Amino acid sequence: MNLTVIGTGYVGLVSGTCFAEMGNRVTCVDIDSKKIENLEKGIIPIYEPGLEAMVSRNVQNKTLHFSTDLSANLDKCDIAFIAVGTPMGQDGSADLQYVLQVAKEIGTSMQHPLIVVDKSTVPVGTADKVKATIQEALDKRGLAIDFEVVSNPEFLKEGDAISDFMKPDRVVIGADNDEAAKKMRTLYSPFFRSSVDRLIQMDVRSAEMTKYVANAMLATKISFMNEIANICELVGADVNKVRIGIGSDSRIGYSFIYPGSGYGGSCFPKDVKALKKTAEEHGYTAQLINSVEEVNNKQKFVIAQKVVNRFGEDLTGKTFAVWGLAFKPETDDMREAPAIYVIKELVKRGASIQAYDPKAMEEAQHFYLKDIKEVSYCNSKYETLKNADAMILLTEWKEFRSPDFEELKVQLNAPIIFDGRNQYNDALMKERGFEYYQIGKK
Ligand code: UDX
Repeated sequence: MNLTVIGTGYVGLVSGTCFAEMGNRVTCVDIDSKKIENLEKGIIPIYEPGLEAMVSRNVQNKTLHFSTDLSANLDKCDIAFIAVGTPMGQDGSADLQYVLQVAKEIGTSMQHPLIVVDKSTVPVGTADKVKATIQEALDKRGLAIDFEVVSNPEFLKEGDAISDFMKPDRVVIGADNDEAAKKMRTLYSPFFRSSVDRLIQMDVRSAEMTKYVANAMLATKISFMNEIANICELVGADVNKVRIGIGSDSRIGYSFIYPGSGYGGSCFPKDVKALKKTAEEHGYTAQLINSVEEVNNKQKFVIAQKVVNRFGEDLTGKTFAVWGLAFKPETDDMREAPAIYVIKELVKRGASIQAYDPKAMEEAQHFYLKDIKEVSYCNSKYETLKNADAMILLTEWKEFRSPDFEELKVQLNAPIIFDGRNQYNDALMKERGFEYYQIGKK
């Protein structure tokens, strides 16, 4: 099929590239000409394992193209995916201006029947708005061209996006028209190698809702466990054991119940807020969803509080080694990363930070921690330890999992570790001679 993907951000670039890998002819369109120029050269703006190689391969094979010209590409395409950003507006709702701008442009330039797919995460009712916007533009041109708006939310995890796309758990298609649904099924059928049909078809509004509910459910699991961790600590229980104890119940399961320093990233914080806002707009107060957010906001400070409890309110003259800046491993993304909150809290109290992350250092230096001169960046995890009063682990990168603990002891002023991701065994840490603080255990 001929596909146009509008927006070369995380979702658009991964989706477009994976569709091309499956043999479709894909053009990824973006208004940012510098970005398009770079992509044509194989320079990709994000770190995502496997993506760069896949982009290069498909550019070479001529299955993947990049362009700034939407109208020229709409001419040749069967399906157009809207994958532009839906940032959080000031009131917490998703800002649809970019989605609707694209819809208007589609209506202004389309020449033949088209399926328009909402791939961006958009609140319930957006497909109707996109439809109305396209129709309005067509009416202005005095044209009657058939088009359908389909919802096809993405469920990609950063760091695993390629495999999530190529081997999906499910593909949700919201379509109120059978022909459009059939075409989407044809497009996705090569992605289901097993005989299990993982394409779930439903109406447009339910598909739009599914995306938010999936993220809100996962965020709820995390906040629930973080709250339990805090209670465990008070009552003298060990959340790591409790986690295993409850996960063994197949109705609960082991995944997404790891306590830590709170969830971050581009999706959970934004989508939880937007769902709450949608409920509000319909006169409903979403108490549980609201609490999920509140618990998470507090959780980001738990590890900083432990540092304060140990070293005192005034951290002037203290230096801390921070391992991990990204909101999770295998990404350079620092959006809503706990590290931002922890570092700012410690610096506010007079501390200096020596930080290291395998991928997110540039993001930190040039954007998220740009104005904080108390943070210095190191070339390795061990370099952060020199003259530091303690190590604080904030992202569970594999390379932090079994470090040379002797080296930590030699380098740190004192053998003290604050672990915001519960990566180490506390009995072993005690044996190794560390003062070890973690989440959910005194
Ligand atoms: C998420 C969804 O998983 C994905 O389906 C959706 O499309 C986009 O949002 P992502 O933001 O890439 O993906 O991150 P994910 O791996 O889901 O982790 C989210 C956050 O939860 C991270 O901050 C992670 O550290 C945290 N987390 C995850 C926990 O604190 N505990 C857990 O048990 C699992």
